Amino acid sequence: MPHTIVIFGASGDLTSRKLVPALYNLMRIGELPPGTRIVGFSRTPMTDDAWRASLRESTARHAEGEPFNAEAWQAFAPNIFYQQGDIGSSDDVSRLRRRLESLEAGVETTRVYYLATAPEFYEPVVGALGALGMAAESHGPRRIVVEKPFGTDLATARSLNASLHGVFDESQIYRIDHYLGKESVQNMLALRFANTIFEPVWNRRYIDHVQITVAEEVTVGRRGAYYESAGVLRDMFQNHLLQLLMVTAMEAPVRFRAKAVRDEKVKVLEAIRAFDLQQVAAAGVRGQYEGYLAEPGVAPGSQVATFGAIRLEIDNWRWQGVPFYLRSGKAMSCRTTQIVIGFREPPLELFTEGSPIHREANRLVIQIQPAEGIQLHFHTKVPGDGMRLRMTDLSFSYSREFRARLPEAYEPLLLDVMTGDASLFARSDEVEKSWEIIDPFVRAWASPDMRPIDLYTPGDWGPVASTRWMEAQGRTWFDLCPVLT
Ligand code: BG6
Repeated sequence: MPHTIVIFGASGDLTSRKLVPALYNLMRIGELPPGTRIVGFSRTPMTDDAWRASLRESTARHAEGEPFNAEAWQAFAPNIFYQQGDIGSSDDVSRLRRRLESLEAGVETTRVYYLATAPEFYEPVVGALGALGMAAESHGPRRIVVEKPFGTDLATARSLNASLHGVFDESQIYRIDHYLGKESVQNMLALRFANTIFEPVWNRRYIDHVQITVAEEVTVGRRGAYYESAGVLRDMFQNHLLQLLMVTAMEAPVRFRAKAVRDEKVKVLEAIRAFDLQQVAAAGVRGQYEGYLAEPGVAPGSQVATFGAIRLEIDNWRWQGVPFYLRSGKAMSCRTTQIVIGFREPPLELFTEGSPIHREANRLVIQIQPAEGIQLHFHTKVPGDGMRLRMTDLSFSYSREFRARLPEAYEPLLLDVMTGDASLFARSDEVEKSWEIIDPFVRAWASPDMRPIDLYTPGDWGPVASTRWMEAQGRTWFDLCPVLT
């Protein structure tokens, strides 16, 4: 069955930087279902050809992997169409519907509506599609992809879910979090559930704590106006960091199908201990990089956090008493996303040669990006006299092992939407639960009772308060920059 991908917000950044390059790459490697057409909708007046020309230029700049292939583009471009219109005008949306019907020419087609607009347009788009009966599946499946941010708190997420459910069935809705499209995030499922050696130690008996870090070197830059209303909690924690936590902590699903996978993920969120506002203050640290206030769009004296670290507890049999530390920031030391499983120390210290040092415990580092790979750190006897030990590692690297480029996160996710596999997309209860967990932190950090935000120098691992906070809990952050080869 052919596919039509209708992109709302066609002239926006997401479309030109991510969506179209991903679709082009899929086509180039022969994975895009034949006959897939792309129809862009936005207010900017443009012809089909003008949009094609502008996408050609942006795709050449943004498509990852091989150098831009003009021939492949030539074959791809004729399936790209543009429809100018305003989502607020039912005439314009009717015109879009007629255009889609004429392109599809009565052939049963899987239609995917992609919400790549600013978030305030999500509900109007859904409403317009509903009013014109465009979610009805009499001429093929109809699906809708909703980008982040999915609401700005629990109440708005609920209201967006309610609007979506007013028009679409839950099975037609794909809430995208591009972190789940990352090869190394999906590999967490393989690591845990396609092997037996990790499962016996993957619990409170052997694991002391877990650290999940998403550090970025980039600053907020031109996104100041958006960032002022988001801050690091809404921008990174409610979605990406909680997704990483879920794949680390979930139980094995009974099968690799959307319902089973999502049921297990939601159970993790349900087991996260609820904090009241006072507990929240002690369960996290926030920071702001020096220079944030000078970014365009940032309010004078803004207390918005560009760095955050929080501690969550999962109250279930597997994880009781094992803290999960989540940390993210802009203007940090390096770009790295990693999950570090910190194991317990041996119950008895046998090798005390030299000074009675506090030895590092084993750790498993899952390097999500860049330098995707996994390292297991353990002690080894240093050759020579006596029992001197040193930390050494076993290391797996994607680039060493596999020659092919790693697909951009949007590529597998777009294919999943086309084939109707929602395993790697968030369900309505999952996003609502995520907000329930993050909302108290957002409220506490915005409260006037909070002490002034701690500053950090760009290039550091967040404020000094973060190091101290961790030390006060008898632990240290693994501040590891990946080794790029
Ligand atoms: C986005 C955030 O969702 O993820 C950005 O809005 C952030 O602030 C980005 O930079 C990080 O994504 P990635 O794939 O580069 O790690």
